Amino acid sequence: MGYKETLLSPVQIGGLVSRNRFFAQPMECVDSDAEGNPTEKTLQRYENLYKGKFGFVDLEAITVTNESRARKTQLEIMPRNEKALTKFIRALKEIDPSIPIVFQLTHSGEISKTEFSRRVTVKPLPGLGGELLSDEDVDTIIDNFAEAAKIAQAAGADGIDLKFCHGYLGSQILRPYNDRKWKYGGSWENRSRFAYDLMERIQRATNAGKNFILGSKLSLWEGFPGGCGSAGPDSPLMDLREPLDLVKGLEERGACYFIESLGNVHASRNFVEAVQNEPYLSYLHFYFANLLKQHVRPETVVIGSSFSPFQGMKNKLLAVEPEKSSLFAIGAMCIEDGMMDMIGLGRQSLADPFTPLKLKEGREEEIRYCTQCMNCEELMRRQRPVGCVLYNKPYTESFREMRRLLKG
Ligand SMILES: Cc1cc2nc3c(=O)[nH]c(=O)nc-3n(C[C@H](O)[C@H](O)[C@H](O)COP(=O)(O)O)c2cc1C
Repeated sequence: MGYKETLLSPVQIGGLVSRNRFFAQPMECVDSDAEGNPTEKTLQRYENLYKGKFGFVDLEAITVTNESRARKTQLEIMPRNEKALTKFIRALKEIDPSIPIVFQLTHSGEISKTEFSRRVTVKPLPGLGGELLSDEDVDTIIDNFAEAAKIAQAAGADGIDLKFCHGYLGSQILRPYNDRKWKYGGSWENRSRFAYDLMERIQRATNAGKNFILGSKLSLWEGFPGGCGSAGPDSPLMDLREPLDLVKGLEERGACYFIESLGNVHASRNFVEAVQNEPYLSYLHFYFANLLKQHVRPETVVIGSSFSPFQGMKNKLLAVEPEKSSLFAIGAMCIEDGMMDMIGLGRQSLADPFTPLKLKEGREEEIRYCTQCMNCEELMRRQRPVGCVLYNKPYTESFREMRRLLKG
């Protein structure tokens, strides 16, 4: 089978269907209004992903609380946002009602920015710190997540992605470093309580099942001593028993898809996003996606990450057969070889949201490939609306202006 046939073939996710194997990764773009509602800019980004025919879309990290957040203009999901989110989803479904969209619910915990919000922590991590969370605080956060899931469902979303990756609160609680003796720390039973309670509460609150799906994006390995997937609170050794147990526990509680990821934005960012001079880190992601695939039920969908560095034929990856190392060729191979079911596109979805459509229509030569310049990431870090700086003019200008201001 050619790569086009593989990538354009449908796949079942719970009771829903993705028309092809392209998954639009959650990409925080810092362009909400002051109340955390989507703006015209937000809508335009997602309209493009819908028109560009991604098979399955993940709405970027949307915070369940306004109190602690990583971005000043981050999407928020609280009762006050329901109306705006409903309007937003309706507009997308008018473009194509068959494309499922899930909301990536999150709480930023220790990565919350103190300039405009409250940084909280399960156990202070060097370089971050924060106010210590109590049992009751986390109980309330679980209530917030359950309420947010209900709002997502009422707004017309097709499911939830629980963010247990990249060092946000979901990862902070799970990691061995959280060895404080409290309801949500210490033993694995205590550290996994948050994730399991969350899944159960959301399952009950939404009656999730075939048509409202649950899943999670996970950093199976955070890449620093004591991080998720390490052997102990200060151990640099990798030990994946806990993350794989987590996957099983989440599956038992209703998860029907997982998005593989690695790393932590504070301690090991290049594992999250493979950069220009380290594109080979993408291969590490494939290893973990494959591991995940081997541990889940046959019907559970595994989505791989870190495909942007493969670009077209011109990439910086050493491959035995370079002609087989393009994004499409390698993506299809990962699916055909059973390592994963779908390929996630993050930075590439900003560079060209029409990537799947162009492949379908035989317009591959028109695809604009991400070069991993990382300017989108810098816009995000500096709290400015995010878009592709290379190909999308307003963002090129915004980036230039930002640099001018920084030079002062
Ligand atoms: C600007 C930017 C925003 C991101 N926002 C999120 C997010 O909201 N949630 C998430 O899980 N990952 C987020 N990521 C990580 C991507 O979803 C993806 O996992 C990573 O970029 C690797 O995929 P890629 O090589 O296709 O870019 C973000 C990355 C960037 C550069």
